[in-house]
This record gives sequence, C-alpha cells and structure tokens, in this order.
Amino acid sequence: MRVTMTVNGEEVTKEIEGRLLLVHFLRDHLGLTGTHWGCDTSNCGTCVVRMDGEPVKSCTVLAAMADGHEVTTVEGLARPDGSLDPVQQGFMECHGLQCGFCTPGMMMTARALLDRNPDPSEEEVREAISGQICRCTGYTTIVRSVCWAAEHEAAERTSAAADQVKEEV
Ligand code: FES
Ligand code: FES
Repeated sequence: MRVTMTVNGEEVTKEIEGRLLLVHFLRDHLGLTGTHWGCDTSNCGTCVVRMDGEPVKSCTVLAAMADGHEVTTVEGLARPDGSLDPVQQGFMECHGLQCGFCTPGMMMTARALLDRNPDPSEEEVREAISGQICRCTGYTTIVRSVCWAAEHEAAERTSAAADQVKEEV
C-alpha cells in the first residue's frame, strides 16, 4: 500500500506492507534511527515519537495509521534555526542521559508535556515519563533535565515579554 505523511516537516510517500510498524518505517525506510526500538511490546517507551503533537509509542502504531498525519521524531526536535530545543539542552546541562538508549523517547515525551503544561511539577514530570524505562535508572537526572527545560523556557518567555514592553514604550 502507499502511504503519505509529513515527517519532521517534509512530506514523504512510500510503498509499504500494511503490517509495517511506524518504528520500522522511520528507521528502515527513512533512515531516522534516532527513534530507538527496545521491546516491541509497548513497555519501554524508547520508540516514542509525536503524531499530530501527541506522544505515541511507534512500536504500537502501524505506519499505515500515520497516513495523512504529521510525525515528529527526535531528529526534528531542534528549533527551526538549528539551535537545540531546551529539552535537549536540559538533558545536556543536567546529565539526563547515560547510555542514551531511552533518551530520544524521553525527550519526545518531555517536549509533548511542556507543550501542554509549560510549568509541570516534579510529580507531573514523573507521571509523564511513567510509561518509559531507563535501563540505566537515571530517573533523577532525567526529571531534573525536564524541569531545567521548563525553567529555561519560562525565562525565555519573561525575557520576550519584557522586550515587547520596551518596544511598546
Ligand atoms: Fe516501543 Fe518499547 S519499543 S515501547
Ligand atoms: Fe541508558 Fe536511559 S540512559 S537507558
């Protein structure tokens, strides 16, 4: 069957087998290997990407189900000007990764959380990533990284608002 979807802002069309999972479509057909494949049973969350903004475990989504939708992978997480997304910065600043296997899924989930809740509590961050496993057990620094990103973005918003006031005066 033929599928067309937007992946990281670019439209792609491919002929695929109907049983193909989205994670394999992204990795094997598009070469986007930043999305990791861990358990294939919806347990580990390393395969999380965003579909129309919502975080989904791409090992439980058929590529055919993404037909006509917008998919964002970790490769599309950086800002349009090429600078790191604050979530990526946060993981770097707070040592939010060890082996890095869980990191793409953690970051995509974190980005989705901050887009719907820009000021999450630590408990809300823990709840958001509760469907994901870090084999290195680095949860404390992962949570700290997400909180760092939230604080960084709040500071950016304050600064942008102050600039706007200055312009209006
Ligand atoms: Fe998808 Fe583990 S590979 S949840
Ligand atoms: Fe190794 Fe999370 S950093 S699995």
